[in-house]
Parts: sequence; structure tokens; C-alpha cells
Amino acid sequence: MDTQDVLNCVFSAWYPKFKDITIKSHILPLPKEFLDYLQADGVVLPEQSVTASGKHDEDDIEGEELDVDWDAADSSETEMPSFPEFESLMKKIIKTLGGSVFPKLNWSAPRDATWISFDKTLRCTCPSDVYLLLKSSEFITHDLTQPFLHCKDCHNRNNITVQYELILRKWQNLASGMEFRCFVRNGKLIAICQRNHTEHYEFISMMKEEIVSDIKAFFYHMVAGKFPSKNYVFDVYRRDKGKLLLIDFNPFGPVTDGLLFTWDELEGLKGERQENDQTQESTAVETSGETSKDQDLVFRFVEQPEGVQPHPYSCFGIPEDIKDLTSGEDPYKMMDLLNLKIQRMGEDQEHSSDEGD
Ligand SMILES: Nc1ncnc2c1ncn2[C@@H]1O[C@H](COP(=O)(O)OP(=O)(O)OP(=O)(O)O)[C@@H](O)[C@H]1O
Ligand SMILES: [Mg+2]
Repeated sequence: MDTQDVLNCVFSAWYPKFKDITIKSHILPLPKEFLDYLQADGVVLPEQSVTASGKHDEDDIEGEELDVDWDAADSSETEMPSFPEFESLMKKIIKTLGGSVFPKLNWSAPRDATWISFDKTLRCTCPSDVYLLLKSSEFITHDLTQPFLHCKDCHNRNNITVQYELILRKWQNLASGMEFRCFVRNGKLIAICQRNHTEHYEFISMMKEEIVSDIKAFFYHMVAGKFPSKNYVFDVYRRDKGKLLLIDFNPFGPVTDGLLFTWDELEGLKGERQENDQTQESTAVETSGETSKDQDLVFRFVEQPEGVQPHPYSCFGIPEDIKDLTSGEDPYKMMDLLNLKIQRMGEDQEHSSDEGD
């Protein structure tokens, strides 16, 4: 994977060529102030968006324990950013796209931040929804700070200036079992995998031949030869028989989730069928087997309900301390917690013996 392969996957690089077969989208170059805002620590919503979403009336908040002067405590750090022109452009585009959009930057969507949104999706209906998701996402930080990670020629990356863009895509209600990730190596489709790899979908095994032949036709007629890299990954949504929608392009390499494949496996496939394919128990490896070309294609999906795995983003939105405690990665945190518990128990005992006196 070279930096050029990563640059070919920038949304604005591929969208003009494929716009007839993908979701309607708008590309907004990011003004410098907005980029600075995204790169700054902390989550402060811009001035206009806070006013728009309606501040709480101070009289609403009652109670003795709330007599902290939050305004005074925060005033030194919480300078509210403001980009009225960019914001009104966003509002206009959201309206043009039917009132609901899916946001992303050059490569990534803030999928790790869905836990913070009201309906636990990436659906945005106003600029403040977009700000909150982008500011809460580590995937967005990755786009901003290390987009060329794992590139073989990454020593050159300092010479590359990335023009950052906000992408607003018309919101679609997508059924997760109908999306597939497709791996292309040396211009050949070598592997396909269900996109949501943590679930079992019974219909996939029943329709596997149709799915494979639809994706192959879509690839050879609509995608192959038009995408500039030799190796890449694309995601496709199969709405119905013969009706496919391109979702996204990703680099062919470990920055992209191989889902039910490991990258060692994908690197080893080389477009040839593996005789001793080491398949996981929960998955099936199938080839459609129509022509000699088909022999080289591996389709993998979760075959049994027992193959269901935890959701890959379930760890986001949980405090780091809790994650460390449950994983056992930081034994000192566990010792601190136990000491605190013992101390509390001691205090409780003292308290009850005082009451008994
Ligand atoms: N316009 C849309 N409306 C609703 N859902 C969408 C839309 N576009 C994409 N999605 C869903 O969000 C998922 C992630 O989108 P996308 O691939 O653009 O983000 P990404 O950050 O590049 O993800 P990945 O790194 O896995 O490729 C898609 O697989 C699809 O299920
Ligand atoms: Mg992607």
C-alpha cells in the first residue's frame, strides 16, 4: 500500500467518476478555522449551534449540589468557535439532501462516536449534530493526524499536503446484512465478505450464488479499470437482485478492516484459490464456480448463529478506566479500586458503630 493508493481513496478523488452508482453527496472544503477546531482538544460546540439548539434556562436548574459556578470554572478554556458562513452552507446542503445526512471526512466517518448521538446513528439533521460526531471520534482524528499510516513509502508523507473536506451524503436507511466488502488485488476481485461481520444473516447462505454473481457483474462493468489503484477494497450495498450501490473505497491493507479475513490471508490469496484454506468454524468459504475466473474468488460470511461476535465498536463510549479494569490490562488500577473499596468498607463500619453508640 502506497500513499498514492490512500490518496486514490479520498472521497473527492473517486466521487466524480462514480457518482452515478453511489449515494448523492456534497464535498465542502474545510475552512482553516474549522480544521483548527477539529484538531483542538475538548468538545465545545460553536456559538451559533448552541444558540440554535436552545440553551437551558438557568431557572430550570435547582438543587443545593448545583451551586458550582460552571461559567467561571470553564471560561478560561471554552472559547466558542464560530464559522457562520460554513455553517449556513452546511444547513443549505442538508436541506438539499432531504434534511438528513451522513457525515465523513476525506476517508473516514465518525462510526466510533455513534454512542454519543441521540438516536445512536450517524444521521445528522443540523450542523451541531455533525460537530458533535466529528469532535468525538478517534477515527476522524486518525484522518487528521496519520492518514498515511502503514504506507510503504510513508517517509515521503511530509511532502503531501492534504486538503481536508467535509463530506455530507444523503442519509440512507441501509439494512446491514445487505452490504458487502470486496477485496481487489492486481485488478482482480479476490474476496467478498459480509460488511457487518458480527451478525448471522440466514438469507446470505440461501442467496450466495446470486450475491456473488451480482457483485462480480457490478465490479467488472462499473468499477474495474476505472479505479486507479491495482489493489483496493470497495463496499457495496445490494438493494435487490441486480441493484447495487457503491458505498466507499478503502486502501488494500491493514488500515482497512479485513472483517472475516485476516490481512495475512488476503495478502496470500493473490487471486488464486487456496487448497488448504484455514476457515474459522463460524464462516463458510464459497466460490460461485461458474467459470475458471470464479475459482479464484472467495466469499466468506457467518454461516451459523453461533458465529455472532461482539459489536466491534462496543468498547467506544466506555470510560478508559472501566476498559482497563475489565481487560485486566492495568493491574494497578485494579489494586487502587480494591483499596478504595476496603477503605469505604472501613468508613462504613466506623459510621455504623458511631450510630450504635
Ligand atoms: N449515506 C449514508 N446513509 C446511511 N448510512 C451510510 C451512508 N453512507 C454509509 N453508510 C453506512 O456507514 C458505513 C460506513 O461508511 P463509510 O464506509 O463511508 O465510512 P468509513 O469510515 O470509510 O468506514 P470503513 O472504514 O469501514 O470503510 C457504511 O458501511 C454504511 O453501512
Ligand atoms: Mg471507508
